[in-house]
Amino acid sequence: MILSPSLLSADFGNLESELAALEQAGLRWAHWDVMDGMFVPNITFGPPVIKRLRRNSGLFFDVHLMIRALQRYLAEFADAGADLLVVHAESTVHLDRTLRETRRLGMQAGVALNPSTPVSALENIVELLDLVFVMSVNPGFGGQSFIPQSLNKIRRIASLLQSCGSKARIQVDGGVDPANTPELLLAGAEILVSGSAFFNFPPYAERLRVFQDAAGHASTR
Ligand code: DX5
Ligand code: ZN
Repeated sequence: MILSPSLLSADFGNLESELAALEQAGLRWAHWDVMDGMFVPNITFGPPVIKRLRRNSGLFFDVHLMIRALQRYLAEFADAGADLLVVHAESTVHLDRTLRETRRLGMQAGVALNPSTPVSALENIVELLDLVFVMSVNPGFGGQSFIPQSLNKIRRIASLLQSCGSKARIQVDGGVDPANTPELLLAGAEILVSGSAFFNFPPYAERLRVFQDAAGHASTR
């Protein structure tokens, strides 16, 4: 299990020290929610902020784009230091092209599906995926409740990936907490994004341990 804390719930006034605190607490990933006020109602940050914070962080930068016109910005996110770029299937009619370009730019490529988007959206692009990203809330805001149907969706994606011989990993984002961690992992997710259920419970090293203990329950079931 990899826990990727969503910086949407971090202190925006102190992102540099938040990143340092995550690293010190033993986290390996950081999740960046990029929002443009068009694809989702909320607005956050863009490549210049990520690029500046990349300088002093050794964390794996997992960048979740909730923006329209994303093809315009792929190179900028690569230049900013994104390790993984997750794009929404709903935000482009040129998903194949977008994924190829993401990989050509040296980033891992992931596709996110909104709760209402069917698993079949992945069928023709499986070989271009390093990761499938299941939105378990409607994107835009932290602190929403987990949509229970997401579990079944994760299972169906896991079986699609297996039947295609794909090594793509499954990441889940929205309403994730220690209580639903075991069932998410059992369903086939490997990477969990957590915003409010992580940042609202410092110290971070201890909170990571709570998630890891919950993950341990999945493996002993
Ligand atoms: C929502 C974002 C999430 C958000 C999750 O659009 O993609 O990453 O920060 O927050 P929680 O964990 O609070 O649901
Ligand atoms: Zn996210």
